[in-house]
Amino acid sequence: MHVENSFVIDDWYPVGALAETVSGRKYHTRILGTAIWYQLTDDVVSAGLADHTAKLASKNIYGLLWVSLSDNPRDVIAIPEFAEADRRVVSAGSIRVATSGLRVIENFLDMAHFPFVHTDILGAEPLTEVAAYDVEIDEAADEILAVNCRFPQPKGSAAASEPVEMQYVYRIARPFIAILYKTCVIDANRLDVLGLFVQPVDQESCIAHTIMCYLDDINTDKQLRDFQQRIFGQDIMILINQVPKALPLDPRHETPVRADALSSAYRRWLKDRNVTFGTTRG
Ligand SMILES: [Fe+2]
Repeated sequence: MHVENSFVIDDWYPVGALAETVSGRKYHTRILGTAIWYQLTDDVVSAGLADHTAKLASKNIYGLLWVSLSDNPRDVIAIPEFAEADRRVVSAGSIRVATSGLRVIENFLDMAHFPFVHTDILGAEPLTEVAAYDVEIDEAADEILAVNCRFPQPKGSAAASEPVEMQYVYRIARPFIAILYKTCVIDANRLDVLGLFVQPVDQESCIAHTIMCYLDDINTDKQLRDFQQRIFGQDIMILINQVPKALPLDPRHETPVRADALSSAYRRWLKDRNVTFGTTRG
């Protein structure tokens, strides 16, 4: 069996979107290579190991159902925006991807692919250059932040009616969780929140649960979901062709196409915390 350190094991993993879970039905899935079941009853989630009677810790928060393999997990990450009453929490779906969950997070952090992969939506030629941004480590929370990110986008969100220079903050909160705070076109003083919560199923397969926490009084839930799913569908074409599927943490194992400060910081952060699941060392 794969042995992983407490940084990975003593944590919470998403297993399904609340909005897409049928109450009373027992679901079977895997986290970190371990087979589990979970069930939602009256908005309370229960879970256990598939081959034992033992129960597992479980939670219902941020529009997701969460399970931990640990008896003593740390707190679920804090995302205060979810408590703001005027925001809409909408699932953009749970999508299985045949690659390491760490690859999915790394791709989410990459602005350079916008004009080429999300053409005329999140970017367009000739505006292909990624402007310099700042990478910071939040020592207290043990998280990575990329601030002052910006990219000119023809259609930066479902609510955007004209091209705007979108401002981004990326927050890498966990090895398999990244949150994007982006320009909110209907309220200049606040930011939309897009969470990518990856369920590491096995070393080289995962389920990407995407949750929007948006200020948007223009689009229906379906319109918001369709916009995000179109973007993610384009990303999948890139992700399934990446070789190796596991993420190399040794820079010598993969020649970076470009020097990318956030990607480098992410890999270094994973390596320093001895994360091996989903890496070429796993
Ligand atoms: Fe993308």
